[in-house]
Amino acid sequence: MSTDSLFSPFQLKNFTLKNRIGVAPMTRMSSIKDSVPRQDVFDFLVRRAENNAAMVYTEAIVTDYESAQGYPGQARLTTQRQIDAWRPVVQAIQQHGSIAVMQMFHCGRMAWPEVNPAGRSIAPSPLTPKQDNPLTGKPYPVPDEMSSFDIEHAVNGFVETARGAVAAGFDAVEIHGAHGYLISQFLSTYTNQRSDEYGGSVENRYRFAHEIIRAVRSVVPDDRLLFFRISNWGVADMEVSLFESKEEYQQLIRLLSREPIDALSVSTYDFSQKAFGTRQNMAQLTREVTDLPIMICGRIYDRSTADNALADADIILSAKSLLLNPNWVADLQAGKSMEPFSSEEANIAYTDTPLP
Ligand SMILES: Cc1cc2nc3c(=O)[nH]c(=O)nc-3n(C[C@H](O)[C@H](O)[C@H](O)COP(=O)(O)O)c2cc1C
Repeated sequence: MSTDSLFSPFQLKNFTLKNRIGVAPMTRMSSIKDSVPRQDVFDFLVRRAENNAAMVYTEAIVTDYESAQGYPGQARLTTQRQIDAWRPVVQAIQQHGSIAVMQMFHCGRMAWPEVNPAGRSIAPSPLTPKQDNPLTGKPYPVPDEMSSFDIEHAVNGFVETARGAVAAGFDAVEIHGAHGYLISQFLSTYTNQRSDEYGGSVENRYRFAHEIIRAVRSVVPDDRLLFFRISNWGVADMEVSLFESKEEYQQLIRLLSREPIDALSVSTYDFSQKAFGTRQNMAQLTREVTDLPIMICGRIYDRSTADNALADADIILSAKSLLLNPNWVADLQAGKSMEPFSSEEANIAYTDTPLP
């Protein structure tokens, strides 16, 4: 790959990205009132567009007012007030020539009942993570096994939130199927022990994702983009491989490739790590079985890691480097020597300190 690929345009359906760099979705927990983020959190997103990121993701927005929320202060996008709050942010991102992407998720068993109106958590099966909730210091509560009503209600939450994103003018919507949250819980045998049509075979475990994608696509017009994020790891019990083998992972990617989606976002915590005991990394395993555009993320922090990651993907996303270094895109272009940031350094995201 020639060294300027990172700064070459990329055609994503009807959108031309000005380069291959995007701001990864980052939860900020700043939405204290009305599920609307703080102004400085909005400003941060606009500044990253101004600083030349071709694509800017929102934090993961929770999909309903029942049991989707996993952390205090998360945003929603279903009311007129929330739509009106996001619209100028989206416009400002677009005015800087960037694409605005709304990411949405339901936390499933990772939800924190205290911050959800319904005071319950739901999941494919009544299983808790082994580790405690780091925010409460207590075990996660045993979730209710989702009924068919719960499943339909959760799907509707994704649809309503996508509708909100379209009304706010977002160019793209991403369904967060990664990191051990609800969709990921259905996909993995680690969290899905159902014996109905949503459990068992890969196709059955995939059914919930399929229903969400189809339902969301029906409200996201053809001239907007729809993405799906996937990972082999979850934020709780991080050491667990969510998929049992390369074959299982690739079967899911094949199923996703049949869907009306426009790109796949593959999340890792180190893009270069080989997966499932193979000699291939996650992007390579994905590329092997799909023609969909691929975004890759995980420990991309300087020009060399960015170029290497892009060799197997179409777009690179960065979280911590773009969170903590407002000049990261320019620094990449200049080939500046840079180090990765730690998760501890990134914890500033959850405070009320405005980021440059
Ligand atoms: C503060 C912070 C918040 C995050 N919130 C989200 C999120 O809301 N949705 C998501 O899919 N990933 C989230 N992530 C994960 C990142 O998008 C990314 O996958 C991960 O940090 C690895 O990329 P990096 O090495 O560039 O930081 C978050 C990461 C950080 C540091």
